Amino acid sequence: MRAAGKLAAALLDYISGYIQPGISTLAINDLCEEFTKKNGGKSAPLGYKGFPKSVCTSINEVVCHGIPKAVDVLKDGDIVNVDVTPIVDGYHGDSSRTFIVGGKTSPEVERLVQDAERAMWVGIEQVKPGNRVSDIANAIDDYLTPKGYGIVRDLMGHGIGRGFHEEPQIPHYRSGRKLSKLEPGMTFTIEPMVNLGTWEVIFSKKDGWTVTTRDGKWSAQFEHTILVTEKGYEILTQA
Ligand code: MF3
Ligand code: CO
Ligand code: CO
Repeated sequence: MRAAGKLAAALLDYISGYIQPGISTLAINDLCEEFTKKNGGKSAPLGYKGFPKSVCTSINEVVCHGIPKAVDVLKDGDIVNVDVTPIVDGYHGDSSRTFIVGGKTSPEVERLVQDAERAMWVGIEQVKPGNRVSDIANAIDDYLTPKGYGIVRDLMGHGIGRGFHEEPQIPHYRSGRKLSKLEPGMTFTIEPMVNLGTWEVIFSKKDGWTVTTRDGKWSAQFEHTILVTEKGYEILTQA
């Protein structure tokens, strides 16, 4: 898990240097695929339940699972989430970041991206034995909801290991339910999807993958794979 996580981190560091106006999401995909192979990994998304590419690239109002395409060319002020999941020796490392194309966008969207990253950390800070999955969800909700954001409910963090998506699900919103206890050795992702408007999303019927906000407002996301330790947590998808 550490090896896969380190490769995910290196891959996002590597691709960050290419995120600029004029690059297509297909070019991003191809660079990621090449880097992953060169470093002894395999791209988990490629062929996963029929997903056609090696990474997900989600622009502006696309929440997640965007399919890289030659015609999708990044513009100044866009935001793009690149979500990578290399497999190393049979284990998965799942991580994503949202980049601001050209480094500047509207103040509202800059705040969205910052708050989405902070929300992930607020969730991570809850990870320790004895706490519950619901403590992660509630902390993220308490951070985001007063700021007026919509927190996506239909997609969640997840257990991860030999499988890409394992039990338990990790919601990022308050459900009012007491969810499972965290125990040392568990590995899962925290990956809040944060919307400027409504939490509601649309699943594309056309390509079967692309998830967009129902109201067309923009959405940002950050993701890490986390290990629960005796004392707290270890971020696996970090250099
Ligand atoms: N990486 C995504 C996640 O965070 C899952 C992508 S599934 C794919 O769970 F098939 F679209 F790649
Ligand atoms: Co994930
Ligand atoms: Co992911």
